[in-house]
Amino acid sequence: MDTERKQIYVWSRKIRFFHWLNVIAITLLVAIGVIILNSKTFGISTDGKILLKTLHVFVGYVFALNLFIRILFGFIGTTYEKWSKTLPFNKKFARELREFIQNKQPTYKGHNPLGKLMVLALMTLMLVQTVSGLVIAGTDIYYPPLGRYFAESVAIDKNKLEDVKPYSKVNIDESAYKAMREVRKPFITAHIYAFYGLIFLIPLHIFGVIIAERRERSALVSSMINGYKYLPVDTKD
Ligand code: HEM
Repeated sequence: MDTERKQIYVWSRKIRFFHWLNVIAITLLVAIGVIILNSKTFGISTDGKILLKTLHVFVGYVFALNLFIRILFGFIGTTYEKWSKTLPFNKKFARELREFIQNKQPTYKGHNPLGKLMVLALMTLMLVQTVSGLVIAGTDIYYPPLGRYFAESVAIDKNKLEDVKPYSKVNIDESAYKAMREVRKPFITAHIYAFYGLIFLIPLHIFGVIIAERRERSALVSSMINGYKYLPVDTKD
């Protein structure tokens, strides 16, 4: 006979809000990013590209702010949003992983060990996207936080920064512009590789959640909507 189960509140409102806003923001960022990446194929004009990049950056700000708040709650939160409960850095992690693979502990209130590894990988890639995105927003369309700094670095007349515009040569010092494009290069490379990493890991994350739900029978998918898992009363973590 199955062990007795009860509903346990695990995912706070903050975490669920972060999760679904993150899903919406990433979906939009990936969609707009794919169009930017293939803008030549789609025959998009320069003005169209500037518009797409501006839109991408505005959604990027929402994504970055949401991620920043999530990171903060990892430090000041009190429940399963804490980093100690979310990331695979606790001393017992190797043992937890072994037990998980041997199916000795099939249910978890928080993340299972593979889930913790996935959170680490996703968080790392999202951080790379945020930092590289905020830098290239400054070099490309001169948007904050670094837009003013890069505009000043390429302007011939620093008193006429309003003339420094994307894809325009007005008030641009050619050699300073080239130097700025060199600074930009590693960030755009990071942005593209982290994008590939994310579009590989996101389906794997969804697949992992479905497999875990089948194995635990804990209503894992709906727990990210209503906060409750349905777990055996003796679940330890
Ligand atoms: C999960 C998050 C993100 C994903 C998946 C993503 C994806 C992409 C992709 C695929 C491109 C096209 C690359 C190219 O052709 O150059 C791109 C471009 C860009 N992204 Fe993101 N991005 C994300 C977050 C951000 C954030 C947070 C910002 C800044 C606020 C940002 C700013 C930019 C800018 C300015 C470009 C244009 C670069 C260019 O000149 O091509 N991105 N992004």
